[in-house]
Amino acid sequence: MPDPAAPTILVFDSGLGGLTVLRAVRAARPDASYVYIADDAAFPYGNLGEGELTARVRHVIGTALAQYAPDLVVLACNTASTLTLADLRAHFRVPFVGTVPAIKPACAQSRSKCVAVLGTQATVSREYTRTLIRQFAAGCHVILVGSSRLAHFAEAELAGAAVADADIAAEIAPCFVDRDGQRTDIVVLACTHYPLLLPRLRGLAPWPVDWLDPAPAIARRVVDLIGGPKGAVGPPTRVAFTSGRRPAPALAAALTDYGAGGFEPASA
Ligand code: DGL
Repeated sequence: MPDPAAPTILVFDSGLGGLTVLRAVRAARPDASYVYIADDAAFPYGNLGEGELTARVRHVIGTALAQYAPDLVVLACNTASTLTLADLRAHFRVPFVGTVPAIKPACAQSRSKCVAVLGTQATVSREYTRTLIRQFAAGCHVILVGSSRLAHFAEAELAGAAVADADIAAEIAPCFVDRDGQRTDIVVLACTHYPLLLPRLRGLAPWPVDWLDPAPAIARRVVDLIGGPKGAVGPPTRVAFTSGRRPAPALAAALTDYGAGGFEPASA
């Protein structure tokens, strides 16, 4: 029997990328209840202007807080976190865990001191990302690679549509740099959609690199804030799309693999 006192955790993204974070957080706190909100009505966030995105995220989160009263919110989106975390914390009392480019661990772990950050064009051009580089990348060459297509490819792949190798290869090619024999050895996955494509990324890389997925670190942060598991496994995740759509069978099956148990429209 799920524990009625177990926390409710809201995981939020523009689309399905946050599922990669949900999986890690669920593994760390399997006893919690989860609501996953995909703001697919406004996807992709990478194309929104900063003022528009800040207002949109505040509106969708505010509506979700009123509807689900979660104990914690995971903002499983780099494009939103690098812009809106401070605004959300100023407006709402619930604790937020954000997802921001893992530049600090990547630069610490890199042996070649040549690291690529692969995210949406919005994320890689944010002041937040530039500040992380100034603070944590001393002695490391950081290549910023913005993609306007990979998040779409990840959504398509999860829904069972074919995405051509050449299309993915073209998006990741700028990450692979050889500076007098010092080649990129770590690619930071700075968009939560990209781990959905990990087997494809590995297969298409010109040489082997570590693909740094922030999900395990986010799960650890959640446990730091609300503690480890305390009871039996919680209910399946409720999934809500702001577009009101119901996923087609192939996507519904993929979502079930991520722990989804029911679909409902989000009132946003
Ligand atoms: N999943 C989002 C992120 O982590 C981005 C996708 C989008 O452009 O909406 O940045």
